[in-house]
Amino acid sequence: FTDVNVKEARLSDNIGKKVNIKGWVRTARLQKNIGFLEVNDGSCLKNIQLIIPPNLVEQISYGSSISAKGTIIKSPAKGQATEITIDENDPDALKVVGNCPPSYPLQKKGASPEFLRDIAHLRPRTNTTSAMMRIRNAATMAVNEYFQDQGFIIVHTPILTGSDCEGAGEQFQVIETLKPNETITKEKFDSLSTGFFGSKTFLTVSGQLEAEIFATSLSKVYTFGPTFRAEASKTTRHLSEFWMVEMEQANATLTQLKQHGEGLIKHCIKRVLERCQDDVNLFASFVDKGLEDRLKNTLEKPFNSITYTQAVEMLIKSKKKFQFPVEWGANLQSEHEIFLCNELGGPTFVTNYPRSIKPFYARVDQVDDPSRQTVSAVDLLVPKLGEMIGGSEREEREEVLKENMELVGLDSKNYEWYMDLRKYGSVPHGGFGLGFERLILYLTGIDNIRDAIPLPRAYGQCKY
Ligand code: 4AD
Ligand code: MG
Repeated sequence: FTDVNVKEARLSDNIGKKVNIKGWVRTARLQKNIGFLEVNDGSCLKNIQLIIPPNLVEQISYGSSISAKGTIIKSPAKGQATEITIDENDPDALKVVGNCPPSYPLQKKGASPEFLRDIAHLRPRTNTTSAMMRIRNAATMAVNEYFQDQGFIIVHTPILTGSDCEGAGEQFQVIETLKPNETITKEKFDSLSTGFFGSKTFLTVSGQLEAEIFATSLSKVYTFGPTFRAEASKTTRHLSEFWMVEMEQANATLTQLKQHGEGLIKHCIKRVLERCQDDVNLFASFVDKGLEDRLKNTLEKPFNSITYTQAVEMLIKSKKKFQFPVEWGANLQSEHEIFLCNELGGPTFVTNYPRSIKPFYARVDQVDDPSRQTVSAVDLLVPKLGEMIGGSEREEREEVLKENMELVGLDSKNYEWYMDLRKYGSVPHGGFGLGFERLILYLTGIDNIRDAIPLPRAYGQCKY
């Protein structure tokens, strides 16, 4: 008997093999003289059916983990090539490894995502969560594949940081816990984290600034890790802990950033369609009827590109009643972003934003223009969701960077190491960040970003 997983057991190539299979029971139909168990182990969406001979039939409840020995045979049923007959000559051929009591709440009918989010042991056993996880896995591989093929070097940027990349003041501060019975004075509180690290320390909101350090020596780098935002917004698109894919490249222009953004997303879609067909079908059938068309359309058409100024003109011209006002200089809200994608029919880059609504690092478009109004920044907006990517050319000119910082009230003295990149062999460069869970929403049609990550940490939710 060789060990196989469910995915392998379902292959007709394996008919005739004697195998040992392990998994969790998805359905059990047990009669006196024969039993059928459907078993899943997460290796694929579909189950394998086990046929239990009369002498081995016993009560096995839904959700139990089992281990079985038998032979893979051709299945007479539709929708599956194989099934497994359990070996009747071995009294131990079917073993319940972990019994599941009747209080197990997941039944065939399916439970709501909100209900599932609170129950750690249950959620990963559902079809939608396990399908999301396999798609996430394929997309993770595709991200690395894309950048590696393009000659990028991965940089593992730190999670603890002393700087605020986005300058939005939405960071979680890291402090040491108090010793048992230690009481806190104001002095003590002020010294927390400063006492430990020598300066105030936070969870990173983005690996960009650190990636810039390495782009100005290794030329093409990327980072893919968790980032943290203390935004108290309870939307279906915001997490407090999310994964970000960030690329940073020496000498990159907006055009190159757009090419990489488009190339990366298309590569991820292609690989997910190749590697996770059943999982995508599940979402296309039960979660988002428009999914397959949207993905195919995204693959086939070049992405649109307009400037911020053109976007604002389009929004004003539309005469549509938006909840948030539209005027030059205001941030685009997701209702505006989704409208633009619908109008233009697909993913849309928006470039050259007002300087006042982009972070200090964005490169001023025209320094000769006294107003210095716009920056070479680019966002990618996608249908249904809005923003998926944010990026820019970076201000590599020391004087202009200082001016940018002054405008937003940042003290360049606190960013000396960053200014040094502009002092010693400065080079134009640029990059972007892609919110990985937003990509997962796009690839699956899942409604709420909390269901696009294994264990969501979001406003009001960090239970286990
Ligand atoms: O637009 P953002 O804030 O850009 C940056 O952090 C840059 N430093 C990235 C760079 O240039 N290297 O974030 C980038 C992307 C957004 O476009 C969005 O997809 C995602 O990260 N994102 C979030 N995803 C989930 N929950 C949140 N709270 C998010 N905030 C941003
Ligand atoms: Mg952004």
